[in-house]
Amino acid sequence: MVYGQALINAQLYLIEHIKPNSNLLIAGGGTGWILDEITKLHPSGLHITYVEVAANMIALSQKRNTGTNEVAYINSAIENVHLEQGFDAVITPFLFDNFTEQTLITVFGHIHALLKPDGLWLNADFQLTGKWWQQFLLKSMFVFFRIVCGIEASKLPQIEIRFTKNNYMLIGQKTFFNEFILAKVYRKTISAK
Ligand SMILES: C[S@@+](CC[C@H](N)C(=O)[O-])C[C@H]1O[C@@H](n2cnc3c(N)ncnc32)[C@H](O)[C@@H]1O
Repeated sequence: MVYGQALINAQLYLIEHIKPNSNLLIAGGGTGWILDEITKLHPSGLHITYVEVAANMIALSQKRNTGTNEVAYINSAIENVHLEQGFDAVITPFLFDNFTEQTLITVFGHIHALLKPDGLWLNADFQLTGKWWQQFLLKSMFVFFRIVCGIEASKLPQIEIRFTKNNYMLIGQKTFFNEFILAKVYRKTISAK
């Protein structure tokens, strides 16, 4: 409610970058509304692997319109799923803010190995740009979600550094909600570690 359309708009920006007939991984898609939106852009031809740790979220996601795209739903934590490598694109929409630094490193490494060289990593999450209200909103979210969902994080992990350390190339970005929300399109380079 606080963010209005901003969380959605950030992801709508990201999915514009999906190419036809892609082999796509979505990790932490929540209710699956993003599947409806992806299907509006690509009613067919995609091979989507949809990994979500919450069973109720998977159940909601399975009711989405996916056209004639092929979708495999997996109810598990992404880091525990053994998938074939070689995705053309991965989407991590507000996934990492849940995590401690150590979990971020583990999950990032796992997804990184699944993305093929030259593949796109579409990531949206919160960022702190020094405005007092951002810290306030973030802290309120962590307290709320720790009580309601039992998330482990109490501060934002260092998401950007993961991409830099692994030699990802930034090819597009857009901010939302007065810069508090950042959507970034990265390309995995051949020199990725
Ligand atoms: C903040 S919600 C974002 C949901 C959705 N992307 C959206 O913007 O509406 C994060 C989602 O990631 C899921 N999640 C958390 N840890 C996960 C993991 N390790 N693997 C897969 N999904 C995970 C949660 O169940 C939740 O649905």
